[in-house]
Amino acid sequence: MTDKELCALAVKAMDNAYAPYSGYKVGAALLTEEGKIYTGCNIENAAYSPSVCAERTAIFKAVCEGKKDFVKIAVSGGRDGKVSSEFPPCGVCRQVMAEFCPPEFEILVVKSENEYVSYTLAELLPSAFTPKNVKK
Ligand code: THU
Repeated sequence: MTDKELCALAVKAMDNAYAPYSGYKVGAALLTEEGKIYTGCNIENAAYSPSVCAERTAIFKAVCEGKKDFVKIAVSGGRDGKVSSEFPPCGVCRQVMAEFCPPEFEILVVKSENEYVSYTLAELLPSAFTPKNVKK
């Protein structure tokens, strides 16, 4: 699985986004150590706060199936299903990544159909609060 292919899966995952309130469709594609892909989309709610982001949908799907060793995630999003060059993961999703992923976990932010920027989790969430901080 190349980075480009993972990004394409994130863009494809935008198709299933349920975003009638914000109009922003978001897709994510998460790669596990064993080479499995979990996709996710944002799922909004009329009560707003129960809404969930694409990245967390993908991560929670994987955890729910017993997978916790993640290599990288691709994320894409934009208004009306059009990929926007400005769609990095929100702070809550970064925090959820910090629960399961090492600082070198890679986050591919899709900028257009043919372009992405790669960050590490440490770059997007420096000085993270992690499970190490609450170990007994
Ligand atoms: N959203 C995501 O799915 N991922 C992010 O990291 C940022 C925001 C969603 C939440 C909401 O449904 C829409 O994008 C607009 O904020």
